[in-house]
Amino acid sequence: MKKTVIKGTGRYLASRLVTNEDLTKLMDTSDEWIQKRTGIKQRFWIQEDEKIGVSDLGLEASKIALKRAKWSPDDIDLIIFGTLSPDMHFPGSGCLLQHKLGLEKTPAFDIRQQCSAFLYGLTMADAFICSGHANRILFVGAEIHSTALVKETRGRDVSVIFGDGAGAVCLEGVDTDQPVGILSSVLHSQGELATSLMMAVPASNITEDDIRQGRHNPFMDGRNVFKTAVRRLPEVANDALAKAELSVDDIDLVILHQANLRINQAVQQSMKLPDDKIFNNIQRYGNMTAASIPVALDEAIEKNIVKKGSTLLFLGLGAGVTWGGVIYKHS
Ligand code: ACO
Repeated sequence: MKKTVIKGTGRYLASRLVTNEDLTKLMDTSDEWIQKRTGIKQRFWIQEDEKIGVSDLGLEASKIALKRAKWSPDDIDLIIFGTLSPDMHFPGSGCLLQHKLGLEKTPAFDIRQQCSAFLYGLTMADAFICSGHANRILFVGAEIHSTALVKETRGRDVSVIFGDGAGAVCLEGVDTDQPVGILSSVLHSQGELATSLMMAVPASNITEDDIRQGRHNPFMDGRNVFKTAVRRLPEVANDALAKAELSVDDIDLVILHQANLRINQAVQQSMKLPDDKIFNNIQRYGNMTAASIPVALDEAIEKNIVKKGSTLLFLGLGAGVTWGGVIYKHS
C-alpha cells in the first residue's frame, strides 16, 4: 500500500531583517504592542529594490529540499505551489518555478489556500500519490507580503504581522504496510467569512475606484479571524486524531501555522499540550502564510526535534476561511 512520506525539506528567507523597532520609524506602533499582541520580534522582507518573486524564493528552498531528498529536478512528477502573493496574477508561480528548475513538461499548479496551503497541499499530494497519478511531488509554500503591505499607521494592524519567505517539501509514495507517512487529514472552508480576510484586487470586475480605495492591499478583521482560529483549530485537531484513531498523547509535536503566538498558546491550552510538544518560530519570522508550516517543519527537523518515528500534527487556519489538520508519522 502506498504511503506518502517526506523525503526532504528546505527553507529560504528574504534577505532584509526588519525588527519591530524598524517599524516604529514607519508607523505609530511599538515593540511592546507587537510582542504582546502577536509574539513577533522580527521578520524578513525582500530588499526595497529587489525585483524578485515568490518563484525565486521557492527555487532556493526547493534546491535545498531536493538535495536532502537526493532528487534531481527530473525526478519531480508534479509541483504544487501554495501562495497568495504570486509573481504574476496569472500564470501561476508553479509554472515559473518549473521553468527555473530547468524542467520542460512537468505539471505544476498553484493552490490559493493561504495559511492552510500546507494542509491542503499535503492532502492533494497524498491523493495524487495514492491514485497513482504521481509518485514524487514537490510542494512549495512561498510568500512576498512586504510589497503589498501599507507600511504606515493606517495599515499597522496588518503590516506588522507578515514576513517574506519560502518552504519546500519533497513528498514521495513508498510501498509499505508500516503506519508511516500521512495518517489522516481533515480539511474545511467557510466562504461566509471570506471578507474577514481578503485582498479584493486583482479581480475580474476591477474599477479605478478599487485602487483609490486601496482594495489591492490586504484587509483583515483580526478579531474575527482570531476567534475563528481559536475555535476551529482544536476542533479540527480532534477530528484528525479521531480519523487516525490516535489520542493527543500519541502526538510528539504539533506544528501550527504561525499567525499569532496567542492563537497557538490558546490551542496549546485547549489541547493541554506541554511546552515541548508545540513548535513556534513566529517570533523570528512573523506570519509567512503558505510558507510558515513548511519552514517550521524544516527547522524542527534541523534541530532534531522531529526525528525518525515522530508523530506530527500540522494545523492551520487562514483566509477563505480555510482550515485543516494533518497527522504525519516521520520515517
Ligand atoms: N501597533 C499599535 N497599535 C495597534 C497596531 C499596531 N501595529 N495594530 C492595531 N493597533 C491598535 C488598534 O488600532 C486598536 O486600537 P483602539 O483600541 O484604540 O481601537 C488596538 O490596537 C487593538 O486592536 P485589535 O485589532 O483589537 O488588536 P488585537 O489584539 O485583536 O490584535 C491582531 C490584532 C494581531 C491582528 C489579531 O487580531 C490577530 O492576530 N488576528 C488573527 C490573525 C490571523 O490569524 N490571520 C490568519 C492568517 S493570515 C492569512 O490567512 C493571510
